[in-house]
Amino acid sequence: MKAVMPIIIRGTGSFVPADTMTNEFFASYLDTSDEWITKRTGIKTRHRVGEGESTATIGIEAARRAMDDAGVGPDEIDMIVVCTATPEYPIPMTAGLIQDGLGIRGCPAFDVNATCSGFVYGMVVAGGLMSADGYRNVLVIGCDTLTRFTDYQDRSTCILFGDGAGAVVLSPSPHPERGILYKNIGADGRHLKCFWVPAGGSREPASVGTVNERLHYMRMRGPELFKVAVTKMESLVGEALRATNLTASDLAMMIPHQSNRRIIESVRTRLGMPEERVAINIDRYGNTSSGSIGLALDQACREGKLKEGDLVLFLAFGAGVSWGTAIVRL
Ligand code: ACO
Repeated sequence: MKAVMPIIIRGTGSFVPADTMTNEFFASYLDTSDEWITKRTGIKTRHRVGEGESTATIGIEAARRAMDDAGVGPDEIDMIVVCTATPEYPIPMTAGLIQDGLGIRGCPAFDVNATCSGFVYGMVVAGGLMSADGYRNVLVIGCDTLTRFTDYQDRSTCILFGDGAGAVVLSPSPHPERGILYKNIGADGRHLKCFWVPAGGSREPASVGTVNERLHYMRMRGPELFKVAVTKMESLVGEALRATNLTASDLAMMIPHQSNRRIIESVRTRLGMPEERVAINIDRYGNTSSGSIGLALDQACREGKLKEGDLVLFLAFGAGVSWGTAIVRL
């Protein structure tokens, strides 16, 4: 019987649009302040797509960079998994647009929507298909443009979100000690309405009425979601470490989803991890949903904070609610 090869991260890439929104921008027209936003969320700036940009365009750019980093050409990619909650169109899948934009033809290309847990879901789905069916170079792209679904009159949500994309090329490796060592994904639909977009789908199709009621924007029960997020993320890390017989000191880095600096700090403190081993970039990008973990991973690699052989814990939590953990030896 053929041995299953470990699946490694062969290359990383990321992209954020050039345009930014500072806390001062929000304070200029809403009853809010840089002080409140910084203290309650840790966010200072976020990026947003401009004219001609979209989920697909930022996904394409991140994917190109990941392919360059991996040294893999378009004809060598044999599957594309796009993780997004903000697709280019309801129909068809954004993965098809990204495939076309990259000049790749014929390989399977599909979207995974697990909101902010999308990137970890995408890696788990891709890794499973690679092990089962022998795909060799798979692009996993987390890309979201939440600013297109943000109500800029709602001070409790509009300050939180930015646009961004992170991508990896996954490949099999002959080195048995490397690769995805642990994975765990899950969801609990009971918390669905903690964070949702009420209209524009099959339950409440777009109409003049839904537009007038601003139902195409994200609605969030922030404090409720906050509590669920902290509790779940803390227990996920414990489960992952127990299952792998590792301790926090074995990890070169934890890369959590960036939804609120206080949530990340709470998990970090519980774990007893020093600040320099936890990826935090929420101050610069806000919450980029499926984009956040790939973006932070790529930055850590480019800044020389990670090297081959390092153990990295990915920790995601998002609307739905959904969650995902993975431990990868680079
Ligand atoms: N500026 C000033 N005041 C504000 C603002 C603002 N931008 N927003 C809300 N407030 C006010 C509220 O009106 C409230 O006032 P009140 O006490 O007079 O009623 C007060 O500040 C406190 O509001 P809370 O909502 O309780 O503030 P909280 O400390 O919970 O922070 C936040 C809100 C940042 C949204 C937080 O709840 C949070 O981060 N929630 C979790 C988000 C999350 O988990 N996301 C991950 C999954 S979803 C995804 O990632 C796509």
